[in-house]
Amino acid sequence: MGLGKPDDGLAATPPMGWNSWNRFGTKVDEALVRETAEAIVATGMREAGYRYVVIDDGWEAGERDAHGDLVADPAKFPHGIRAVADHVHALDLRFGIYTDAGTNTCQGLPASLGYEFRDARRFAEWGVDYVKVDWCHTNGLGPRALYAKWALAIAAAERPIVLSICEWGRSRPWEWAPSVGHLWRTCWDIQDTWASLTGVLDRQAGLYSYAGPSHWNDPDMLEIGNGGMTALEYRTHLGLWAMLAAPLMAGNDLRTMTDETRALLSAPEVLAIDQDPLGRQARRVRASDGAEVWVRDLAGGAQAVALANRDDCAREIAVEWTDLGLPAGTIRGVRDLWLREDVGHLRDGHAISVPPHDTALLRIAAPLG
Ligand code: GLA
Repeated sequence: MGLGKPDDGLAATPPMGWNSWNRFGTKVDEALVRETAEAIVATGMREAGYRYVVIDDGWEAGERDAHGDLVADPAKFPHGIRAVADHVHALDLRFGIYTDAGTNTCQGLPASLGYEFRDARRFAEWGVDYVKVDWCHTNGLGPRALYAKWALAIAAAERPIVLSICEWGRSRPWEWAPSVGHLWRTCWDIQDTWASLTGVLDRQAGLYSYAGPSHWNDPDMLEIGNGGMTALEYRTHLGLWAMLAAPLMAGNDLRTMTDETRALLSAPEVLAIDQDPLGRQARRVRASDGAEVWVRDLAGGAQAVALANRDDCAREIAVEWTDLGLPAGTIRGVRDLWLREDVGHLRDGHAISVPPHDTALLRIAAPLG
């Protein structure tokens, strides 16, 4: 048995998948999970990279069983969790579940304090590949020690399981969590509003140095397709989450989403930025009156640039190659990642008129030779 996590290869790039919480809350059941897994395959999202199907809070019965094991709510999961996990695996997808480090989950259901080894073992028996461990009802406990116990419990269960730490960034988890879990929340829960999105974004700007392969900042799950934001705002959501090397957990109803939502969630050149193997998170190099420039180094010497317009009117936003650390006079090849078209070879920089709340995404090629 190892000492828990570190670089076990389970999250060399940020995990991608679907989680029930943002759209369904506690209204989860086996039909939803099975149908969602089937929709991931039918819509092409599995091929786009979405792999984990994660049940969030609300799956648990109100009491542990006579042995002290967690059990699923029998009305929601009449065939038990193992049967759902098997169905997910049969579709060549991976299965994730939720618990909480304290006495109860955030919805008041039984949680794992004092049962970490038992619950990790049970999850392993069920075929769990990913566990999100929340932080409600932990009065006075230290997150670092308790999540380290979780890492040990998972190692003892002898099944590869991604550990998603959900402590909301209160104890600066980016400073201790990289050696404990594969990802950690950096902020409170996202809401399906522009104000929430930009608030989350501002909390990420200082954290770029902490992320890398097998250890990712998690600015929370996607709201794309849930209806509270415009198409351009959702484009900003995906584009900036990709720049942040964020885990991409779709949070909408995949069974009924529009073609527009499916196309956005599957945008191949944008997902490639998120999944870039170098694993560097973007830094914000300029921000003035709502016009922002974010830059991310990519494998092989290329760079990704986001030009984000948080203003309520169109703005011309410019990136200069000196923002990328290059000398004046440099010529670089530029590609538009939404249009999937080459823009040309440009000297010194590029400026674009960006509609309100939209984000342009560019790939700046590595220098020739
Ligand atoms: C917390 C988490 C959310 C979700 C809910 C479930 O609020 O931050 O992501 O898991 O609990 O109750």
